Amino acid sequence: MTSLVMAAFISVASVLIFGVSLSEEAGGLSLNFYDRSCPGVYSAVDKVVRTHVMNAPSIAAPLLRMHFHDCFVRGCDGSVLLNSIKSQKAEKVAFPNLSLRGFEIIDEAKAVVEKLCPGVVSCADILALVARDAVHKVGGPSWNVPTGRRDGKLSRDTDALTNLPPANGNFSTLKSIFANVGLSVKDLVVLSGGHTIGTAHCSSINTRLYNFSGKGDMDPALDKTYAAQLKIKCKPGDTTNRVEMDPGSFKTFDNNYFSTLEKRRGLFQSDAALLTDNEATSYLKAELQSSTFSSDFGVSMEKMGKISVLTGTAGEIRRKCGFTN
Ligand code: HEM
Repeated sequence: MTSLVMAAFISVASVLIFGVSLSEEAGGLSLNFYDRSCPGVYSAVDKVVRTHVMNAPSIAAPLLRMHFHDCFVRGCDGSVLLNSIKSQKAEKVAFPNLSLRGFEIIDEAKAVVEKLCPGVVSCADILALVARDAVHKVGGPSWNVPTGRRDGKLSRDTDALTNLPPANGNFSTLKSIFANVGLSVKDLVVLSGGHTIGTAHCSSINTRLYNFSGKGDMDPALDKTYAAQLKIKCKPGDTTNRVEMDPGSFKTFDNNYFSTLEKRRGLFQSDAALLTDNEATSYLKAELQSSTFSSDFGVSMEKMGKISVLTGTAGEIRRKCGFTN
C-alpha cells in the first residue's frame, strides 16, 4: 500500500471509529469542542454578557465590532485584545481601534471561565461567543460559533492599519479587503448591516460633512436633509460627540440599515459605497425586501469567525487576554 493510500485509509478510518466530521476538522473548529473540557463555558459567557447588556444595551455594538476587528487582523486569534509591550505597539492602539469599547467585559468573561476550567478556553473563542451573545440580546440573530480557536502571540498596530477597512473606503477597496480574508461581496453587504446598531464619533464623518474634496464641501452622495441634521450634532473638528449609526433604531438589531442606505443616509463613505456597485446593490435590495437578513447575517458571521484561525497546537491559551503567557 502506498503511503498516500495508507493516509487516506487512516483518515477514513478515524471518521468511522471516532465519529470525527471532516467538515468540522477542515476548519479545525467544532461545535462540540468544549463538550468534555469545559461544557459550562457557553452559559458562563452568556451570563456575563447578559448582565452587561441588560445594564447598558449600547455595549452590544462595540463588542460585535471588536470581534470583526479581531478577525480581519491576523485572523480570529484574540490579537486585538493584547496590550502593547515595550518593543511593539499593539493593534489596540491603532487609530481604528481607539474607539473600541468593552475590553473589560472580555476580561471578566475570561476570569469566570478560567475559574471554571483553567487554561482551556481561548480569548479568541470567548470574544466570538461574546459577540454572538451580545447581538442576540439586542434583538439580533443567534448563530453557530464553532470553537477551538487558539490565541495568537503577536499584535501589531501596523497590521490593524493595513487590514481594517477605512470609513472613507470606496467599493473596490472594501471588496479587496474582504476578499483578502475570504469574504464575498454578499458578506460585505450583509456584515455592513452590523451598522444597524451602535454609534460613531463625529470625527469619523467630519470630512464627509465639511471638507470632502478639500474645498470645504460636503460629500454629494450624502442626503442633504440628513447631512443638515448631522451638522447640528457634529460641529467641524468635533472629536467627542457621537451620532447614531442607524437613526431611530440604533439600539435594535434589524434590517433598517438597508433602507437607510437606500435613502442615501448611510453614515460612512463605506456605507454609501455599497450603492456604487450593481452586485452589492442587488444584495442590498434583497436584504431590504426579504426577511433573510437575520439568517444571512448569522451565516456571514460564522464565516467571518473562521478567518485564519489558529487551531491544534498553534498559538496558546492565554491566561489573561491582554497578555501572552
Ligand atoms: C465594511 C467596512 C466597515 C467600515 C469601513 C466600518 C467602519 C466603522 C467606523 C468608522 C465606525 C465608527 C467608529 C467610531 O467613530 O466610534 C464603525 C462602527 C461600528 N461598526 Fe463598522 N465598519 C465596517 C464594517 C463593519 C462590520 C463588518 C461590522 C460587524 C459585523 C461592523 C460593526 C460596527 C458596529 C457595531 C459599530 C458601532 C460601534 C459602537 O457603537 O461603538 N462594522 N464602523
